[in-house]
Amino acid sequence: MKREINIFDHAKKIFDLFPSPGILVTTKSEDQVDAMTIGWGSIGIEWGVQIFTAYIRDSRFTYELLEKNPEFTVCVPLDAADPKIKKALAICGSKSGRDVDKFEMAGLTRVDSDLVKSPAIQEFPLTIECRVAYKKLQEVSEIDKTLASFYPATGNHSAPHVAYYGEILKSYIIE
Ligand SMILES: Cc1cc2nc3c(=O)[nH]c(=O)nc-3n(C[C@H](O)[C@H](O)[C@H](O)COP(=O)(O)O)c2cc1C
Repeated sequence: MKREINIFDHAKKIFDLFPSPGILVTTKSEDQVDAMTIGWGSIGIEWGVQIFTAYIRDSRFTYELLEKNPEFTVCVPLDAADPKIKKALAICGSKSGRDVDKFEMAGLTRVDSDLVKSPAIQEFPLTIECRVAYKKLQEVSEIDKTLASFYPATGNHSAPHVAYYGEILKSYIIE
């Protein structure tokens, strides 16, 4: 059963997990599906609607899937101390969906979302279904110099983030 909630009443549960150990974002395009750990994110209001913004480097498989199907689901654990949750966040934050099925590897149970193709996750019951309302590739040259150290000239971390502003379509807890 899914119990609908107002996500603003539960925002602290999310921010307590940022930047570590993080939460999950799922994406899906045709038969490809992925779950990725995120440690950054924002919740607010723009265009008069609730928005969850996720910041995804353009090197991620998650980015590829979002470019094909601009929908995502935010999945939050209710017991982040559970070893199974810690293991899932570690796997989804280090392996790429290009190489492995992270749901299988982390023992995660997919649950159909109501309004988007990206799945919810039984073990991460607090769920936000989002459709991308706006996206913006962040220009590293415009980022404050002290923070631009997140983007060294070479290596995996050189990739800039794309800010995906997801209109929150539905929020609930899977019970
Ligand atoms: C705690 C934690 C937080 C992370 N936060 C982000 C994030 O906000 N944005 C991002 O692009 N990558 C983040 N990552 C890295 C991705 O989760 C990681 O590169 C993942 O393997 C990408 O998976 P994918 O290629 O299947 O999309 C984080 C990793 C960890 C462990």
